[in-house]
Amino acid sequence: MLESVEKTMGEIVASLGDARVCALYESVPSGKRLRAKLILRIAGAHPDAVKLAAIVELIHAASLLHDDVIDDALTRRGVDSVNACFGNKTAIMLGDILYSKGFFELCALPSAVAQTISNAVALLSLGELQDVELSQAFHTDKTAYDQMIYNKTASLIEASAKAAAQLVGKPWEPFATYGRNLGLAFQVVDDILDITQDSQTLGKPALNDFAEGKTTLPYLYMYEALNAQDKAVLLSLFGVVLSPDQAVWIQEKMRTTGALARAIDHAKSLGKEALEAIAKTGVEGLDKVVIQMIEREF
Ligand code: FPP
Ligand code: MG
Repeated sequence: MLESVEKTMGEIVASLGDARVCALYESVPSGKRLRAKLILRIAGAHPDAVKLAAIVELIHAASLLHDDVIDDALTRRGVDSVNACFGNKTAIMLGDILYSKGFFELCALPSAVAQTISNAVALLSLGELQDVELSQAFHTDKTAYDQMIYNKTASLIEASAKAAAQLVGKPWEPFATYGRNLGLAFQVVDDILDITQDSQTLGKPALNDFAEGKTTLPYLYMYEALNAQDKAVLLSLFGVVLSPDQAVWIQEKMRTTGALARAIDHAKSLGKEALEAIAKTGVEGLDKVVIQMIEREF
């Protein structure tokens, strides 16, 4: 059914009737389609499930096009980003097209579903703003980090699960709780992989978050655990493109302080909360999504 989602996304974009836009859209790599998978697992039997999944993935793709401009990212999912290939203006406009075509289709779905998704897009944008502001300087504000990752990442995953339940008339609360915790765990795992994986595996530069000014959870935990001298060393590396020795220093301190292990534990406990939320819903396959995501190579 994921193929039907891809096909529907292509058709929605093609309905604009512009060959250049279709060609640009073809250059956007597709990713894991996590949000679509959730929607299909929860509401797969409904005739509008594929449409809803396609809309959410178009909105998500639009947000990443804009995010790569904001982050000056040159690669996305292992290939040159749209902004790197065609410039920021094109990437922003392609994002606007995917986003507004998605919204046009969303208007035809039940209003509760449309409200759930559109509310999440506002949160997504707020989360990106919070991320940009938090990235201006090193910080130690775990509450601000939690709020930002909820808005930036978890809100649309939560909304995908909730909207799918609303589409099929299931009580949506357990699905929303599942999606929220899965989304939070997803971002924490992403922040961990930035430190533990090489750039080839990540499809983007490794150890890039701190260089981009992002004080992610492992860094918050690490700072807490360092002595005064090492705290000063860490601060001197904030926002800096790291030398190989500096990269090794961060990776070693992440392990010896227990910061990485603590972040992994946190991701696992969020995953556990997600699993508990849907235990009684009887929907198959949602547990596998959590387990596969948590068990990605740390
Ligand atoms: C990736 O974060 C970014 C997001 C998940 C959300 C981006 C949201 C917006 C730009 C606002 C909404 C815009 C539209 C058009 C709906 P990251 O930079 O931490 O992850 P990365 O390493 O994958 O880039
Ligand atoms: Mg980014």
